[in-house]
Amino acid sequence: MSKQEKIVTMFDDIAGTYDVANRVLSFGVDKSWRKDACDKTYELYNQKSIDIILDVACGTGDMCEFWDKHAEKNSVKVKKIVGVDPSTGMLNEAKKKDLNAEFQIAEAKKLPFETDSVDILSISYGLRNVIDRKEGLEEFYRVLKPGGLLVILEFTKLKKASIASRVRDFYMKKILPLVGGLLSKNYEAYSYLPNSIEGFLTKEMLIDELKEIGFDIKVDKGYSLDISTLIISQK
Ligand SMILES: C[S@@+](CC[C@H](N)C(=O)[O-])C[C@H]1O[C@@H](n2cnc3c(N)ncnc32)[C@H](O)[C@@H]1O
Repeated sequence: MSKQEKIVTMFDDIAGTYDVANRVLSFGVDKSWRKDACDKTYELYNQKSIDIILDVACGTGDMCEFWDKHAEKNSVKVKKIVGVDPSTGMLNEAKKKDLNAEFQIAEAKKLPFETDSVDILSISYGLRNVIDRKEGLEEFYRVLKPGGLLVILEFTKLKKASIASRVRDFYMKKILPLVGGLLSKNYEAYSYLPNSIEGFLTKEMLIDELKEIGFDIKVDKGYSLDISTLIISQK
């Protein structure tokens, strides 16, 4: 089994307990990060009618729900919200929620969308799991309309050790595997999370990769002492 297949299988295994574990482990703070990302994006895109919002690595559908909920508050009409993910387990959980979105099985590097067709493409806490990241980012660039926005929420590696990074590391390495492991009965999956952050990029490195592909960086912001990062870039 390839590394990518192993990651997807791991998400299949924890799909049933993913939402509960997520809310417990994040104390619900991720909601404010997601809300802010949606509001900033709608404001920046500044279109009252949007054809397609695509959420890649949609998991159990959280971001699709946020895009829908915050459209009305921003006086935006969104014609279609689509979530894609290679994990059938995660997609099945998303489908149970009866959200105002469609769900399809697909990987980041091969999206079932035409060139220049998507207004907004988001990926929340998913990019770390995309093994062929460069191909994925190039695919995002391909499907976005000129002027379309790429919205990345992610746990990036911190450049310098700070008090915040030590607290985050302690929480991620010690508490999260324990609590996540107990809730999901899959300790390996919740030990993977801190390791995948260690093996990921700093915010600065990710911005460089995006610029290389041709994206123009519009927003680059840290939440809760840089525990989470938001990058909005434009094609
Ligand atoms: C940590 S979950 C995040 C789910 C959701 N976006 C959220 O914010 O809760 C990571 C998701 O990435 C998906 N994933 C893994 N490899 C992927 C790939 N190559 N392309 C797209 N999604 C992938 C997993 O199946 C999983 O649902």
